[in-house]
Amino acid sequence: MPIFCPDIGDSRLYRNHRLWHIDCPLWLTYGWGKAHRIARREQPKDLRSRVDFTFGETPWPAMRRILELVEPTPETRMLELGSGTGRFALFASKIFGLQAEGVDMIPTFIDRSNNIAQKQGLCCHFELNDLFNVPWHDASFVYVVATTFSGQSVRDLSAKSAELQPGARIVVVSHRLDGAWLERETCEVLNFSWGPSGVFFHRKL
Ligand SMILES: C[S@@+](CC[C@H](N)C(=O)[O-])C[C@H]1O[C@@H](n2cnc3c(N)ncnc32)[C@H](O)[C@@H]1O
Repeated sequence: MPIFCPDIGDSRLYRNHRLWHIDCPLWLTYGWGKAHRIARREQPKDLRSRVDFTFGETPWPAMRRILELVEPTPETRMLELGSGTGRFALFASKIFGLQAEGVDMIPTFIDRSNNIAQKQGLCCHFELNDLFNVPWHDASFVYVVATTFSGQSVRDLSAKSAELQPGARIVVVSHRLDGAWLERETCEVLNFSWGPSGVFFHRKL
C-alpha cells in the first residue's frame, strides 16, 4: 500500500477545526513511509494471517463522506477497529467532540495516538489489543478497514457484530457483513490510499 500522505480535501473544514494540529505530529512520526515500516516490524508474528496487518489509510475526503453519512453527534461513541495511526478517530473526536476509542496491535501506533489525544485534550483513547478481544457493545459507530482481512476474519467480524447495541452503525471497507441482526443501509465507492474500495454501511437491528 502507498506511503502515508496527508491530504486536506475540504480545506475550510480542515482549517476551522485546526486538524493540522493532529496531522503535524502524525507527519513527523510517520512521514516518508515510516508507518508502513513500523507496521511491518511490529505486527504480531503468531496470530491471524499476517495479511490482516497490512497498513493503509483512510484519506480525509473518504473520512468526510463516511462522517457525512453516519451523522455523528457529540453523544456518538466511535470505535475504530484497527485504528492504525489513529488519524480517523482523532479527527472525528476533534470535529464532533465525540468520544472515540481505537484498537490496534502495533504498539507505536497506540502510544503515539494516545500521546496526540492527550496533548490535544481529546476524549479519545487507544488500546493495544486484538480487535476481536475488545467489547463492541458500548459503541454507536464502529469503523473497520477490512480490505486485506482473510475470509475467516471477515466472518468473525460478522459474528461479533451481533454484540452491538440496537441502532449502532458498523461501517466496513471492502466487505459486506452477513447476519440476520444487521440491516444493510448503503454502499459507496470511495478512494483510499490503495485505490477505490466499496464502503458498506450496516445498522444493528
Ligand atoms: C488498513 S489499516 C487501517 C488504519 C486506519 N483504520 C485507517 O483507516 O486509516 C488496518 C489496521 O488494522 C490493524 N489490525 C489488523 N488486524 C487487527 C486485529 N486483529 N486487531 C487489532 N488491529 C488489527 C493493522 O495493524 C492496521 O493498523
